[in-house]
Amino acid sequence: MTPVLETGRLVLRQLTMDDLDDLAALYRDPEVRRWFPEGVLTREETRAELAWVIDVYYRTYGYGLWAAVLKETSAFVGRCGLLPWEIGGRTEVEVAYLLDPAHWGRGLATEAARAIVAHAFATLPVDRLICLLDPGNVASRAVAVKVGMTLLWDDYVDEHGLSHVYAIERPRSVDRSQV
Ligand SMILES: CC(C)(COP(=O)(O)OP(=O)(O)OC[C@H]1O[C@@H](n2cnc3c(N)ncnc32)[C@H](O)[C@@H]1OP(=O)(O)O)[C@@H](O)C(=O)NCCC(=O)NCCS
Repeated sequence: MTPVLETGRLVLRQLTMDDLDDLAALYRDPEVRRWFPEGVLTREETRAELAWVIDVYYRTYGYGLWAAVLKETSAFVGRCGLLPWEIGGRTEVEVAYLLDPAHWGRGLATEAARAIVAHAFATLPVDRLICLLDPGNVASRAVAVKVGMTLLWDDYVDEHGLSHVYAIERPRSVDRSQV
């Protein structure tokens, strides 16, 4: 599978159905899913999400969640990427990250998120990128802030409840008209 992005330590590549076992192992872990409104997912629910990412996101948008693989060992360490949301009549693109707890605290999410932000501004005609997070998810907020995001809304409420929305604007140096 061709990589979408590379960082110092990671390859981000498109997910395939062969990633189901690895992804399901993460999605059934309550610690990993602590801040997700749906909580843990079963293998079947994970299969459905994976199929949705592959069949809908990749085909319709050309982006979605990607597998994060360690270059050194080829280990699957999580999934990161871009997700579209309709908010207030506007399509917002979210930078998403979820990693195996065995690899937390090594700067990998920050490394992945930085590369994803640069890739998104270089390839998509978006003026900003966002991160939607539960106000209690300090790790996720720390990653968002480290990649240059600031609080946009502290009062965003959807069917899942209150979220904080962090955002980063397109840098002037990366001209949207050239995307
Ligand atoms: C959020 C997540 C991806 C962060 O991954 P990570 O690779 O450990 O993050 P990093 O190592 O890049 O850390 C980035 C910053 O967050 C801080 N951080 C990480 N975990 C933290 C925690 N539990 N509490 C406080 N700060 C934390 C780090 O200290 C670091 O800041 P520093 O460099 O100033 O010390 C990981 O915790 C995760 O997968 N969580 C479960 C899934 C999830 O909630 N995803 C986000 C949904 S919005």
